[in-house]
Amino acid sequence: MQMNVMVKIFKRFSGSSNGLDGIAERLLNYYNIMITKELWTEIARLTNLHGYMSGVNRESERVKATGEVYTPTELTIEMMQRMLADDPEIFAPGKTILDPACGDGQLLVPVKWYKVLHHGMFPQDACEDLYGVDIMRDNVDLCKDRLGGGNIIMGNALDPDTRLPEQTDMEYETMRDLFSDKSSLEAFLS
Ligand SMILES: C[S@@+](CC[C@H](N)C(=O)[O-])C[C@H]1O[C@@H](n2cnc3c(N)ncnc32)[C@H](O)[C@@H]1O
Repeated sequence: MQMNVMVKIFKRFSGSSNGLDGIAERLLNYYNIMITKELWTEIARLTNLHGYMSGVNRESERVKATGEVYTPTELTIEMMQRMLADDPEIFAPGKTILDPACGDGQLLVPVKWYKVLHHGMFPQDACEDLYGVDIMRDNVDLCKDRLGGGNIIMGNALDPDTRLPEQTDMEYETMRDLFSDKSSLEAFLS
């Protein structure tokens, strides 16, 4: 892959009449653009290994009640790029991300791959930085499966004190600990 990129760079820049510094700077910029493009293509590919909105039977009544319409991969990637423009270290190792209505992980899965591919984290460590809550048991399980880990629990993010029928004790206690008191959630995520 790197060889192809270098060949393209030299083809593009051979014959440039700028000074050496200018050429080096332009080479570096172009190299970064090519690498970044390949990075996002790979993140999209890995995310799309799971078909959009697949894996669970979401009838229209259910979708109406829960709002289960997931963010398309391209849109998630655009959001991530905007976040990175504000803070290039926003997905660095140890930086946690919470999706309080995580669905099947359309937001969390690309973040995992960015942490792995860009920051060189091990997948398991990358998942440790990811937090998700969803009100539907099957979405929680699917999200966990897709990530291969992560801190994904069932809960009602709008009403964390109310126990859901399929919630485990651990999920219920975690929801109460983290969400009932807004200041503890903020402290936890900071
Ligand atoms: C619009 S989808 C968004 C999913 C994901 N964040 C994304 O961007 O693809 C909303 C998700 O929130 C879940 N949900 C709805 N009400 C919720 C609540 N009160 N607490 C937690 N999750 C909820 C639904 O089950 C659904 O999976």
